[in-house]
Amino acid sequence: MAAAAADPPGASPAGSPGAAAFPLQVVVEDRDALAEEAGRIVLERVAEALAVRRRASVILAGGSTPRVMHAWLAGNIRGRNLQVGRVTWYLGDERWVPVEDPQSNEGMARETLLGPIGAPEDTIASWGAGSGDPVECARRYGESVRARLGPEVPDVLVLGIGADGHTASLFPGSTAFLPDGRQLPVEPGLPGTAAAIRGGNAPDWRLTLCPGILRSARHVIFLVSGADKADAVRRAANGDPLTPAAWIRGGTTTFVVTRDAAGSADTGYGPDIRRA
Ligand code: 6PG
Repeated sequence: MAAAAADPPGASPAGSPGAAAFPLQVVVEDRDALAEEAGRIVLERVAEALAVRRRASVILAGGSTPRVMHAWLAGNIRGRNLQVGRVTWYLGDERWVPVEDPQSNEGMARETLLGPIGAPEDTIASWGAGSGDPVECARRYGESVRARLGPEVPDVLVLGIGADGHTASLFPGSTAFLPDGRQLPVEPGLPGTAAAIRGGNAPDWRLTLCPGILRSARHVIFLVSGADKADAVRRAANGDPLTPAAWIRGGTTTFVVTRDAAGSADTGYGPDIRRA
């Protein structure tokens, strides 16, 4: 059963664009409850965007946790008569592999969500990873994202968190290779739209959207499960400057975490924790 969530006192009304509300943390029992809780949030925010702007943009996360939410969404989008053709789908980051590779985030998104809901090909923004030059790939993707978004900002950003606190492919200690030739440390102020990532905790080449465009999202939803993530969640929720997941706050920011990732109440969580 999904947890009951309530905005913390003083938070901006959920969905108010631009007002960076307090992050809200929803603690759920298990991955099935995480899938439903996060899936409902994504569905509501996409429906809201379609109703107000007749278009919606969603940046999906990679890794394994999103699979369960994608399955829930695939089973529930159909029932909501959502105009899927009006939603543009992005990947917040990608591994340096082709889409056919089992490690591909795009491949996972196509298998578990985009294929099942019949997302038209022209609504899927692909990194085209795995061949050629990673930096050139990042340049192309950054330009594609900017062209597709135009003056808009992303409506929904889904992110995961690694045990080291990374999110998307913003890894502690790694270096960002920017399309303009600069090589900069991955830090909160990393400029640009997209970058190739190497070194530090990054396993081989990675591709990622940069903090600025991630933070521009109206609604950020972190999906986290597993006791090994509890410390990273605590650091991210409490704004630790050395934890990349702490750098990304949207108009609203919701951490949907399973109980084992929420740690214990004595870990100094802020006032934003709601438990099932
Ligand atoms: C990736 C992701 C990465 C992921 C975290 C958590 O490409 O792997 O974008 O940031 O979200 O590593 O991954 P899990 O959900 O598999 O724990």
